[in-house]
Amino acid sequence: SRRGVLFGGAAAGLGAIAALGIDSLTSTAAPAGASEPLHGHTMIPFYGAHQAGITTEPQTHATYIALNLRDALDCESLGRLLRLLSDDAARLTQGQAALADTEPELGAVPARLTVTFGFGPKLVELAGSSATAIQPLQKFTIDQLEESWNDGDLLLHIASDDPLTVAHAQRMLLKDARRYASVKWVQTGFRRARGSETSGTTMRNLFGQIDGTVNPSTETEDFNTLVWNADGSTTMVIRRIRMDVDTWDEVDRSGREFSVGRTLANGAPTTGTKEHDEPDFEATDALGLTVIAAHSHIRRARSENTTERIFRRGYNYDDLPSGSEVSNSGLIFVSYQKSVTKQYAPMQQRLADLDALNQWTTPIGSAVFLIPPGCAEGGFIGETLFM
Ligand code: HEM
Repeated sequence: SRRGVLFGGAAAGLGAIAALGIDSLTSTAAPAGASEPLHGHTMIPFYGAHQAGITTEPQTHATYIALNLRDALDCESLGRLLRLLSDDAARLTQGQAALADTEPELGAVPARLTVTFGFGPKLVELAGSSATAIQPLQKFTIDQLEESWNDGDLLLHIASDDPLTVAHAQRMLLKDARRYASVKWVQTGFRRARGSETSGTTMRNLFGQIDGTVNPSTETEDFNTLVWNADGSTTMVIRRIRMDVDTWDEVDRSGREFSVGRTLANGAPTTGTKEHDEPDFEATDALGLTVIAAHSHIRRARSENTTERIFRRGYNYDDLPSGSEVSNSGLIFVSYQKSVTKQYAPMQQRLADLDALNQWTTPIGSAVFLIPPGCAEGGFIGETLFM
């Protein structure tokens, strides 16, 4: 029975999985009769020490859904919900139909589908875990937050290289969640299509900038120190940042490059020639002015304190313009870090105080989630909070 499947034993084997670092492996299975494996059949393991969808090379399509738990929900029902959704995610990511799947054929093409769960402050409290308590982010002076894009108790981050797969997973998860929770907001984002560029190419945002160059490399000691807590968890900040593409249009190329401190052509610092050249913040021009301005985005984002760094993994959004607008676009800014208060907040405060880019960007939504560790087969995401 479904109950039997969902309520099985949990944590055994997690240590072995952690030792293998299995969350970063992918597998491709060709369906019977197919002559060559298709990308649609590439799968990312669901089980592992960390949840998938963070160190996974970003898929083309991502949907972030924030749910609010129903008022009467108790701790036991919360456990049931998390078991149910973990089971759906485990199946769908491996190209199998979810239990009671009404369109099982849609689940057959995972195309690197991942489902990553995030827990808001209320959910963490309901689970009764004070050790992992998470605080909402303070409001910054640049914020023009709209309640309809803020907060949430349970985050479902669904991503795949195939948009039909994302839509199917979204529907299956929401059908199972609806007795326990209601939708607060949904944000859909995209990057370039798989195969359009060499894999590993840094993404471009809708200002045309290469965005994500200076980022800790996954699977390194540096990344582990900055992102993963000892129990395999991390935290996530998601900010919906509106980008005024129409006024950005009025700025010439050198002005655009000056505001960030990097070129548009290949993302090199304006003191260098290649994308990954180290910026020279001391270099001056013929007038004695620093080439990379003190108020440029990269100068302001960087701290002298190397522990104040984050892992950025955002997506573009491009919604329907309304009225006389030509565009309604921006960045679904997403960052992962061990500590929101020690790593993210000081950086965001500096950028709120001064950042040339602020002229064209406005945060309109903000939420913070605990990303619990991954789980072993038979377990469920969030189980450690109930232990
Ligand atoms: C760097 C764009 C918001 C943190 C960059 C770069 C671009 C960019 C083009 C240079 C390339 C790179 O290293 O990625 C944007 C846009 C934003 C935005 C368009 C808003 C729509 C933010 C926010 C934060 C942030 C909210 C954090 C609070 C950083 C960091 C770097 C960076 C840490 C690397 C700085 C370094 O060189 O050390 N951003 N960004 N950005 N951004 Fe942003």
